[in-house]
Amino acid sequence: MATAILIVSCQQQQTGQDSEIENKVEDLLSKMTLSEKIGQMNQLSSSGNADDFKEMLKKGMVGSFLNEVNPVTINKMQKVVMEESRLKIPLLFSRDVIHGYKTIFPIPLGQAASWNPDIIEKGARVAAQEASEAGIRWTFAPMIDITRDPRWGRIAESLGEDPVLTSVLGAAMVKGFQGKSLNDTNSLAACVKHFCGYGATEGGRDYNTTIIPEQTLREVYLPSFKASIDAGAATLMVSFNEINGVPSSGNDFLLRQVLRKEWNFDGMVVSDWGSVEEMINHGFCADRKEAAMKAINAGVEMEMVTSTYVEHVENLIKEGKIKESTIDEAVRNILRLKFRLGLFDKPYVAVNSKSSLYSDEHLASAKEAAIQSLVLLKNENNTLPIKSTVKSVAIIGPLADAPYDQMGTWTLDGEQEHTITPLVAIKEEFGKQVKVNYAKGLEYSRDLSTKGFTAAISAARQSDVILMFAGEESILSGEARCRADITFPGKQRELIAELKKTGKPLVLVIMAGRPLAITEESKIADAIVYAWHPGTMGGPAIADVLFGKVPPSGKLPVTFPQMTGQIPVYYSQKNSGRPAKEPLMLLNDIPVSAKQFTLGCSSYYLDAGYKPLYPFGYGLSYTTFVYSDLKLSKNQMKKEDQMEISCKITNTGNVEATEIVQLYIRDLVGSLTRPVKELKDFKRVAIKPGETVKITFTLNTNQLKFWNAKMEQVVEPGQFKVWIAPNSSEGLEGSFEVTE
Ligand code: BGC
Repeated sequence: MATAILIVSCQQQQTGQDSEIENKVEDLLSKMTLSEKIGQMNQLSSSGNADDFKEMLKKGMVGSFLNEVNPVTINKMQKVVMEESRLKIPLLFSRDVIHGYKTIFPIPLGQAASWNPDIIEKGARVAAQEASEAGIRWTFAPMIDITRDPRWGRIAESLGEDPVLTSVLGAAMVKGFQGKSLNDTNSLAACVKHFCGYGATEGGRDYNTTIIPEQTLREVYLPSFKASIDAGAATLMVSFNEINGVPSSGNDFLLRQVLRKEWNFDGMVVSDWGSVEEMINHGFCADRKEAAMKAINAGVEMEMVTSTYVEHVENLIKEGKIKESTIDEAVRNILRLKFRLGLFDKPYVAVNSKSSLYSDEHLASAKEAAIQSLVLLKNENNTLPIKSTVKSVAIIGPLADAPYDQMGTWTLDGEQEHTITPLVAIKEEFGKQVKVNYAKGLEYSRDLSTKGFTAAISAARQSDVILMFAGEESILSGEARCRADITFPGKQRELIAELKKTGKPLVLVIMAGRPLAITEESKIADAIVYAWHPGTMGGPAIADVLFGKVPPSGKLPVTFPQMTGQIPVYYSQKNSGRPAKEPLMLLNDIPVSAKQFTLGCSSYYLDAGYKPLYPFGYGLSYTTFVYSDLKLSKNQMKKEDQMEISCKITNTGNVEATEIVQLYIRDLVGSLTRPVKELKDFKRVAIKPGETVKITFTLNTNQLKFWNAKMEQVVEPGQFKVWIAPNSSEGLEGSFEVTE
């Protein structure tokens, strides 16, 4: 992809060490007392009152704040530092600007369904523009944790289950936040998080233990971080979890060996909120002093909100448990970031300047991102788009007009007054075309009362088509919002079943922060659009797609399980020694008193088989694409080689639409077993009705490498399969060999 080239040039721009900056860093460092150095390593959460911190600021005891977004307060704090502290080192103000500041884009998982690095970069640019107006110059994003567990609430913040997709999209987000140069006052330093393995949390319960073999760590969880760092990410945040007994805040293998030695990262490392001190809860440190020691020695340079560094570093140095050179290195990285951001020259934010918040351009980008995030999962009898013969629609469900909830998790600054819901958008844009019969049915997603059912059923009966907006409120996903049962909460399933009984075509639009288990509903709905939490402009985006102004194009960035108990289910699983053997004997097929081995012995669930409900990469449109004529430029590649793989794709329907074309491989035999499929590349291509286009991928042997048992990245000779595919479970299949 072109992305790879962009990544390299961006990296040169942003991390190439600037000798002028390095000289300034050294000069400043040489003037600092130990206490001033420790001050730079201290990050506090603002109380909103600048006076609370005045004395500390004068003494240089704080390096950064989070959670202050009032530019007047920011300038007031900055003024104390710039005018009353000895060395005048500017403060760095930070915020979780995760998928928009005021103009809210779809949740990251939704954005990932676009498979479009350009739209993701644009979204991050808009967020940077808006947040920087408040004085924020550092965001704690992108979150590039790979996760295969939709019980985990933070899947909403992720870019899905796949390392290649997450790498490309995460790097695009970094580029968007950081802009052309960190030095521009409208760019934000990105912070890739959470390093590392947080998405592997046991049972999908937040903050929980992870057990990750080094090979899996390197193959699944580290590549997205490497890609973002290569794209110039200025900072990195460690994760809350432990891996194999070592909490990330004390993990010197990750922070020193991998991050610094192998990847040459010269940015700055921050803890997560209280994560240094939490090493006591983990049972990894006896007290706050030991926590400070382990975190600093591992390479955590700025401590978020707890103050173990401020309290203990001086003594730890005196006792020889931390070297002063370790502190110097940490402070060097902090100062370098501040110089790169141009904070010494422009410490203040311009107040009352012309605002870009909610500008037409920003809203248009948010709408486009929301459109591209929508995934059409089912469309029986071409129920969608809504035909011109449809004279009335019933709009039902707790998420049809839920301006706060459709913004999704981590919208600290988004304002629901600016959100346009599907109800409002449909009435406004298509109200002349169709009569809208609105009845919520349920007040909110968890509502257990069926009081509203009668009105909802009556609205459905009076309408030609039912549009049911189901899902989850925003508070049910995100940090610490995990669910052990990922079906629709409340009485939504009952309401959907009742609506079905009216015999009217039933369209389900689902807004949620995670894949929900919707097996039953997928059987009874005529059409399903998965809308995630689509943000400020979700309503107009959904309206346009439902009414056919634009066709859907999104594809799933994560596998949808049939039921919760099937988790983990992801496309790149291993084959096992006994892969499921069709035909499967399922629970209700088994004769009473069946003998022990009559079912065969292969790997599947009696109640769920082995296939997911919807595979990774899946998504429909209002047209059909036919793949044909797979060609490989060669059948054999040497160990350092490349080949071209192409096919034709024909739009066999009546509307122009975009197809997301995916390239997968399988390494059939390895010195360590390999997944049954691995995504290697993808392209978005717009195809006109009746048109046939040729799609060509270049596959390089570097893309075939994996980490072997000696932790070497190698390509092993042998047979490979390759697919150009519309999703991870279909496609045109070919094969080739890699030779010595
Ligand atoms: C989260 C981080 C976030 C930080 C600061 C933590 O609880 O894990 O992702 O950036 O808080 O708000």
